[in-house]
Amino acid sequence: MTRDVPRPDAQVHLGVFFQGVNYWTIWSDPASGSQISPESYRRVAQTAERGLFDAFFLGEGLRLREVAGRIHDLDVAGRPDAITQLAALAAVTRRIGLVSTTNTTFNEPADLARRLAGLDLLSDGRAGWNVVTTDNAWTGENFRRGGFLDHADRYVRAEQFVRAAREIWDGWSAGAAATSTDAPAWARPGAISPVHLRSSQFTADITPVLPRSRQGHPVIFQAGDSSAGRDFAARNADVIFSAHGTEFDDALAFANDIRARLRAAGRPEDDIRILPGTSIVIGATAAEAQEKAAWARREQITPATALAQASLLWNLDLSGYDPDGPLPKDDPKPQDDSGAFGAARVADAQGIIRRWREESDANGWSLRETVIHLGQRARGHVGTPQALADRFAHFVRHGALDGFNVSPYLIPHGLDDIVNLLVPALQERGVYRTAYTGTTLREHLGLRPRP
Ligand SMILES: Cc1cc2nc3c(=O)[nH]c(=O)nc-3n(C[C@H](O)[C@H](O)[C@H](O)COP(=O)(O)O)c2cc1C
Repeated sequence: MTRDVPRPDAQVHLGVFFQGVNYWTIWSDPASGSQISPESYRRVAQTAERGLFDAFFLGEGLRLREVAGRIHDLDVAGRPDAITQLAALAAVTRRIGLVSTTNTTFNEPADLARRLAGLDLLSDGRAGWNVVTTDNAWTGENFRRGGFLDHADRYVRAEQFVRAAREIWDGWSAGAAATSTDAPAWARPGAISPVHLRSSQFTADITPVLPRSRQGHPVIFQAGDSSAGRDFAARNADVIFSAHGTEFDDALAFANDIRARLRAAGRPEDDIRILPGTSIVIGATAAEAQEKAAWARREQITPATALAQASLLWNLDLSGYDPDGPLPKDDPKPQDDSGAFGAARVADAQGIIRRWREESDANGWSLRETVIHLGQRARGHVGTPQALADRFAHFVRHGALDGFNVSPYLIPHGLDDIVNLLVPALQERGVYRTAYTGTTLREHLGLRPRP
């Protein structure tokens, strides 16, 4: 039994993860809108802000996935650059944090630190940076040098990258830029320090170009679940976007693991916020919520999605198969690093296919029904607003997590029930703010100010 960490005053923090085109946002609902139009981003961000969320969050995908030579268009396709997209949202929101997932593998510190600092200034201290190394080996083919760093080297580079970014951001001392026209010069003489990078990944001499924002510099998020990823988070991150937010024991075990790593890194245990990704399905009764979740699942797995998921698993083009027929008899093609999933997710494709075949035979399921029951899915919480609020309060008050990054399964209206029904239930239990008390993302998250 994992030890819990009582925190009677803990609050639930919410973020929204706007996925863009992906395999499980429902297309077919009459109210569904575009997954890539600026109007959809605006509506979701403003709804989240009405619900007093900490952050609006975007992922990153730089290259389309391919399966057996065919473009896989159910993920990544149509995703604008996150920093650009968030800059547009900075203009139509006032308080909510704006978090960009941006990798350290294919960028350079001087450029990326400047772009992120730009977002932080344009949003007046609301920017966050979700640092990823990317598990997408094929992304390397987009770049001049091609190829890819191995897993360990990606984290070495990430560590050096974040250290460099902080040095660049701190290159302007606090109050370096004039705030009044009475000042004799815009930048106080001597207030800008050059940065000299000499490490295995970077050799550069940089004169930082931007002053500090209201929150000092962007809040650092991290997403990556390996031991190296968790250590990286414990040393560098303010927030972890984890994948451990459905089962209480799993969430608590993850949080305790992170607390141990924080201690080893010499940081206080409360120095980090843990916000797992989740889906949330709300109904007026428990039965209605379950019914809605089952409906959502069927709508998510369209015939085309069922074939695409099966193609990914078999690593074969199965687009000509009948989704209402049986599972393919074909042997799967071995996965390689250039496949459409990250290597970890297909490590046991043979085992998954064996299970699919057993269950499909036992239950008489078609290919599509098998994917509906057993395919890739976003995990999450289903219930009434009151039951969900009780569950979330229990999670935060026992130190299992600090809140959730919610992925709506309907765009652009998928946050409406959460904001209209769940947020008031959380407020009634005293675990959710009733107004923003700060203006910056760092303040929303209750993080210590940067020196
Ligand atoms: C919840 C979560 C969200 C992620 N989002 C992205 C993303 O949007 N783009 C991306 O390239 N990688 C993403 N990643 C993967 C990261 O690139 C991560 O650095 C990579 O998986 C390697 O780290 P790991 O082996 O420690 O998991 C995500 C990972 C997690 C756990």
